[in-house]
Amino acid sequence: MLRSSLAFLVLAFAFFLCFIMSTGSYVYFQFVQQWPPTTCRLSSKPSNQHRPLQRFTIHGLWPSNYSNPRKPSNCNGSRFKGIVSPKLRSKLKIAWPDVERGNDTKFWEGEWNKHGTCSEQTINQMQYFERSYEMWNFRNITEALKNASIVPSATQTWTYSDIVSAIKTATKTTPSLRCKPDPAQIKSGPKTQLLLEVVLCYEYNALKQIDCNRTAGCWSNVNIKFH
Ligand SMILES: *[C@@H]1O[C@H](CO)[C@@H](O)[C@H](O)[C@H]1NC(C)=O
Ligand SMILES: *[C@@H]1O[C@H](CO)[C@@H](O)[C@H](O)[C@H]1NC(C)=O
Ligand SMILES: *[C@@H]1O[C@H](CO)[C@@H](O)[C@H](O)[C@H]1NC(C)=O
Ligand SMILES: *[C@@H]1O[C@H](CO)[C@@H](O)[C@H](O)[C@H]1NC(C)=O
Ligand SMILES: *[C@@H]1O[C@H](CO)[C@@H](O)[C@H](O)[C@H]1NC(C)=O
Ligand SMILES: *[C@@H]1O[C@H](CO)[C@@H](O)[C@H](O)[C@H]1NC(C)=O
Repeated sequence: MLRSSLAFLVLAFAFFLCFIMSTGSYVYFQFVQQWPPTTCRLSSKPSNQHRPLQRFTIHGLWPSNYSNPRKPSNCNGSRFKGIVSPKLRSKLKIAWPDVERGNDTKFWEGEWNKHGTCSEQTINQMQYFERSYEMWNFRNITEALKNASIVPSATQTWTYSDIVSAIKTATKTTPSLRCKPDPAQIKSGPKTQLLLEVVLCYEYNALKQIDCNRTAGCWSNVNIKFH
């Protein structure tokens, strides 16, 4: 008797966990903007599709969870319906282009299906794309860096905190950065990494910006190239 009710409890708990996971348990959002020249430089996709635009563009809005660094993904939500509004579509073509493969719709579809589905209980498909556009449009990261004299350069490097404080001045919150190893790294030269992405964090409803507290996206104490 005791054993069967215990088994029931375990089973019920397992179902509960599945439910939590399928509805996409998240606590905050990471709004990720990429630096297209770095994306293109590191891309394995055919280079004739690349668009190394000299401005930050949207990569995605990712519902995230502090205790699970891999974030919820591919949740059981509605499939991508396409961007119906021509007005929103033309905005997204500027803010959220596919700089690697040249198919914007496919990029949006991939981001919605992988990430957007995990926060559908809070923001629906249309809101997901509108909200992302507003986040991109609200603070111009390219300009925030330029205001701190951080402009693309093949030779100059910056520290993690140089870049973070420039963005913090503009957004009043702490961003986090994502870097990748510099493929042009000279073995004997000083170690450097490339700035790939800037992440702004938002609370559960994707309305209010909050401090990001994850810094694992770059090596500490390795200078950063932005070009
Ligand atoms: C984070 O995600 C895991 C796995 O999806 C989930 O079990 C956990 O409850 C989540 N944490 C929070 C605070 O939502
Ligand atoms: C969620 O998954 C269940 C079971 O696999 C399925 O019946 C349902 O249609 C899915 N819901 C959505 C919105 O995809
Ligand atoms: C772009 O991607 C969409 C959605 O996946 C697809 O329907 C369309 O055929 C693709 N366009 C081209 C030119 O490959
Ligand atoms: C953002 O700032 C850059 C650099 O000042 C500028 O070239 C670009 O037009 C701005 N973008 C928007 C959408 O305002
Ligand atoms: C950059 O500086 C100009 C001039 O001070 C200011 O108007 C603008 O808001 C700043 N841009 C950002 C993104 O902080
Ligand atoms: C980040 O902040 C959240 C919420 O305050 C907290 O739960 C989490 O432990 C923090 N993570 C780190 C790495 O400081």
